[in-house]
Amino acid sequence: MQTDGRAILVAGGAGYIGSHVCKALSERGYLPVTLDDFSTGQRTAVRYGPLIEGDIASAEAVARAVEDYAIDGVMHFAAKSLVGASVRDPLHYYSENVSKGISFLQHLQRHGVRRFLFSSTAAVYGDPGSQPRLTEASPTVPINPYGATKLAFESALRWTGEVSDTRYAILRYFNAAGADASADIGEAHEPETHLVPLAIGAALGTRPPLQVYGTDYNTPDGSALRDYIHVTDLAAAHIVVFERMSSGIQGQLFNAGGGRGHSVLEVIKAVEAELGSAVPHAFAPRRPGDPPILVADISKLRGTGWSPTLSDLGSIVRTAAAWHRREQSDQHFESTITV
Ligand SMILES: NC(=O)c1ccc[n+]([C@@H]2O[C@H](COP(=O)([O-])OP(=O)(O)OC[C@H]3O[C@@H](n4cnc5c(N)ncnc54)[C@H](O)[C@@H]3O)[C@@H](O)[C@H]2O)c1
Repeated sequence: MQTDGRAILVAGGAGYIGSHVCKALSERGYLPVTLDDFSTGQRTAVRYGPLIEGDIASAEAVARAVEDYAIDGVMHFAAKSLVGASVRDPLHYYSENVSKGISFLQHLQRHGVRRFLFSSTAAVYGDPGSQPRLTEASPTVPINPYGATKLAFESALRWTGEVSDTRYAILRYFNAAGADASADIGEAHEPETHLVPLAIGAALGTRPPLQVYGTDYNTPDGSALRDYIHVTDLAAAHIVVFERMSSGIQGQLFNAGGGRGHSVLEVIKAVEAELGSAVPHAFAPRRPGDPPILVADISKLRGTGWSPTLSDLGSIVRTAAAWHRREQSDQHFESTITV
């Protein structure tokens, strides 16, 4: 298919962040071609371009995508990202996030696809203690296999870039949250481990009461501080960085966050204000390895011309709640028409 260099392969395009990026790409005039095995993604989230169902490690699936759509570049979201599961089964995480990623990169090189944007994570920084803001130069000392696998793939990419004409960039996400303004797509992990959907689910009665781990951190209200970036802002960052890769940004990494810290209790209050109902919660001891504060210095990403416009807590919770309400009513509708 002739796509005039506008076809982008989105590995993991059926997932939470990948689907929002597909929407942003299509709005910008690109053709987002999703490659996904649906191991954690949703079929209903693939709505902005064609789908190739398969594994990123499959030479055949990659060949089909590249040959059918004249792929010009790749955004790579396909990974396993549950910290606890990575601790229980590190080899599975190395296999999924490193070995398969490397096979994917090799297939792409064979087909001459040279532009590659990689989804990394703040988990590469490990526990920075009470360091106020993390820059891209902060030490990378992952404290779980998930973070270690992302750092390992970053490193594979960096060395590959040294000796080949593969152009790459890396975004280290902090906590992606919120949903598209249309409420057509949103955050649907299963199991869910992210605070905003867990708090909304607890308030709506669709999930159990929220556990607040740690109330004695050295933070303003004693609960942990995290940096939240609206998924639409994150999608916009992908477009900016990707487009700048043909004009200078090569081999660079960027923190992608909102640039502000919000405590767990602040998030609970924001959800309560949005939904007008309490978030049932219980206090629990700190979890080992949970840093008190993880906040991004986003000045490097801002230097590309990008800036967050929706990453305030109010917009995050409002859009996430709208999507959850819609999901709930769709499920209700489906159950009422089932005979
Ligand atoms: N959600 C966050 O806050 C966050 C934070 C930091 C980093 N990240 C990273 O961003 C990326 C996307 O995260 P997400 O929250 O959208 O996750 P997600 O689980 O919703 O999406 C991942 C997608 O990749 C697909 N996939 C996984 N392995 C695959 C394989 N081998 N072949 C083909 N498809 C495969 C899944 O089916 C899913 O659609 C991940 O790499 C994750 O590690 C996410």
